[in-house]
Amino acid sequence: MRVLGIESSCDETGLAVYDTARGLLAHVLHSQIALHAEYGGVVPELASRDHIRRLTPLLREVLRKAGCGLRDIDALAYTQGPGLAGALLTGAAFAAGLSVSLNKPALPVHHLEGHLLSPLLAADAPEFPFVALLASGGHTQLMTVTGVGRYELLGETQDDAAGEAFDKTAQLLGLPYPGGPALSRLAETGRSGVFGLPRPMLNSGDFNFSFAGLKTAVATRVKKQGAPLSASFKADIARAFEEAVADVLTQKSFAALRRADMRRLVAAGGVCANLRLRERLNAVAREKNCRVHYPPLEFCTDNGAMIAFAAALRLQAGAMPPPVGAFAVKPRWMLLSGINEPGTEDERATAECATGAIDATGAREGRGSPDP
Ligand code: KG4
Ligand code: ZN
Repeated sequence: MRVLGIESSCDETGLAVYDTARGLLAHVLHSQIALHAEYGGVVPELASRDHIRRLTPLLREVLRKAGCGLRDIDALAYTQGPGLAGALLTGAAFAAGLSVSLNKPALPVHHLEGHLLSPLLAADAPEFPFVALLASGGHTQLMTVTGVGRYELLGETQDDAAGEAFDKTAQLLGLPYPGGPALSRLAETGRSGVFGLPRPMLNSGDFNFSFAGLKTAVATRVKKQGAPLSASFKADIARAFEEAVADVLTQKSFAALRRADMRRLVAAGGVCANLRLRERLNAVAREKNCRVHYPPLEFCTDNGAMIAFAAALRLQAGAMPPPVGAFAVKPRWMLLSGINEPGTEDERATAECATGAIDATGAREGRGSPDP
């Protein structure tokens, strides 16, 4: 079975073809960094318009790289949420259009499920069960994973996500968007131990996180220092920030492993591209005789491969796609067991969504909710 996956939840347009017998055949990605850079963050309307511009050329490119045509595709998959409503709609409607013209199913995929399963794309894939640390721009969660679609939330951030804290702290230091990678590059030149920053909720006794206070601690220190900030001040505080985030994520992840009585940790989502975090996780794993699995680095941040892959696993597990041409997006959507399964807690919890349908003549009828 060949699945064409489409990711368009935020500022990356990603497409990929995954073959259940041969593995990943091709993937392509267009990043909107240059488009949003002058605004210091993602502008939702610009993001949607750019996805629309890119989807068709990227489709041609991914098919060429995969060495196949549209008629060789058995199923479509698209990111249904969470994400920016308009951006999600571009990928969802594109997938639905293809689904009608090919008369093939289009499976909606939870973006975080894509991240969560992406380490299984690596050559040395982990087996179930495992504990997953998901750290991205919008989410920071720890969960136990006992199989495809079987997820139990252990804890999550109570305020900012880890990636959001990276991005906001980078902005405080005058670094360009996207802040996470820029801050981590700057931290490379910083000295350890110059600034002491808090480790929020480290001893809270649960698996929740809080990163807003850490960002505020940096803001307070920056204010005290006064402008202009020297290059060495910025590098040292970036280092302290990065170490604090890495410490909290590492310690809580291993506490979760202990609680779940497991030895396998999966670390996924954009923040897990951070090399200092990986260094810490690996060091503690060695000490505790555990193993950490990451997605291949290029699939750590948003991409189409993880969406095609997650859909392929779900279809193999017997997932029922919606009727051809129907589509929906869920800008706010919890990752729960039984996602997209009728009658489950997930279905009942999904109050906020936009749906539509494309009929065989290509007309779209729909009702939508406003961008949250
Ligand atoms: O998973 P992702 O690509 O998109 C979301 O689903 O949010 O994660 C993006 C987040 C951003 O906040 C970005 O700054 C952060 O991941 N990020 C990093 C690094 N690379 C991306 N944070 C720290 N170090 C990095 N190397
Ligand atoms: Zn993501």
